[in-house]
Amino acid sequence: MQPIDEIRVRLDGDVQKLESRVAGKSAAQAPALASGPEEEGPTPARQFEDLKVRYLGKKGEISGLLRAMGTLPAEERPGFGKLVNELRDRAEALFAALQERIQEMEIAGSLAGSKLDPTLPGYRVPLGSLHPMSQVREEIIAFFQGLGFELAVAPEVDNDWYNFEALNIPPDHPSRDMHDTFYVDDKVVLRTHTSNVQVHYMETHPDQPIRIIAPGFVYRVDNDATHSPMFQQVECLVVDKDISFANLKGTLFLWARHMFGAETTMRFRPSYFPFTEPSAEMDVSCYFCKGTGTVPTGTGTVPAGTGCRVCKQTGWIEIGGCGSVDPNVFGKVGWDAEKYTGFAFGFGIDRITMLKYGIPDISYLTRNDNRFLRQF
Ligand code: PHE
Repeated sequence: MQPIDEIRVRLDGDVQKLESRVAGKSAAQAPALASGPEEEGPTPARQFEDLKVRYLGKKGEISGLLRAMGTLPAEERPGFGKLVNELRDRAEALFAALQERIQEMEIAGSLAGSKLDPTLPGYRVPLGSLHPMSQVREEIIAFFQGLGFELAVAPEVDNDWYNFEALNIPPDHPSRDMHDTFYVDDKVVLRTHTSNVQVHYMETHPDQPIRIIAPGFVYRVDNDATHSPMFQQVECLVVDKDISFANLKGTLFLWARHMFGAETTMRFRPSYFPFTEPSAEMDVSCYFCKGTGTVPTGTGTVPAGTGCRVCKQTGWIEIGGCGSVDPNVFGKVGWDAEKYTGFAFGFGIDRITMLKYGIPDISYLTRNDNRFLRQF
């Protein structure tokens, strides 16, 4: 018999012997086998390691064959090398299978000696989820990104210039009263709206088309049942040649139907913002009462026909402000108001979340009550 055949036969025999030793032991006997006293002879794991080294080790029999190859005539080497490689592959496969069997036996053995019942169900690790406001924010961003808008950010602590002056709100302007501002010092404020992103972006991207969506936290000295000193807005700015008020309305209508369902209607009410002209407040039909002003179907505590608390029985929900970019703003940031027009809007994410999920009270959003949050 060739040495290579001889090794193969011996390998098969050795592996088989160890295999039947492992298979022959019941789980109850296994602990002794796996880690038991050495009087019983080496454990199967130990035997396995020895065998593996003997055949596959650096100085093992199969490597020995390869080393011996140098003594063969050149024309015999390729054929011999192929046979040795086949033998090595065979050995590796046999050992891999055997190792698995031994590990199973060891696990069975350690379980047999313990009080652990592996058939009992495990402890469930409770999974968290995104806060409903975060979900809404992500959904708004995704929608506008789908229309080709770019995500932008601006500082929450900002210079008066960005939050007010460049937005056409000079220091003595009465519209400053609309924003009860947290002042850090004379010139630095906590931003009262996300509109500061408009100024930052136009200053850093001069003379080029702009399409941005910019969510973020804003701050106002305001704290009652429907207002919180810190809340979230999402701002949008589009600037290009020939951007019209109709583009604004079309974009918002598309978004409203995406967000609140195909039956949603909307309206613009004339309004005033120093940085847009003309300006409007956008309302959408109340999701909760379907624009009727009364709750159509009762719940546990609210009988049908009750006045809708979400829209205060008007059938409409105020979403936010919008308008065409005021030429004065272009002037402040050094843009050519003859060349460019644009539109902007700014919405409260808190409000939109309430509307979308029919949440009747804004305070649910910040109470951190798990019974509420687990529903999302
Ligand atoms: N910044 C305004 C607010 O907070 C909303 C707005 C944004 C209005 C953009 C017009 C254009 O009330």
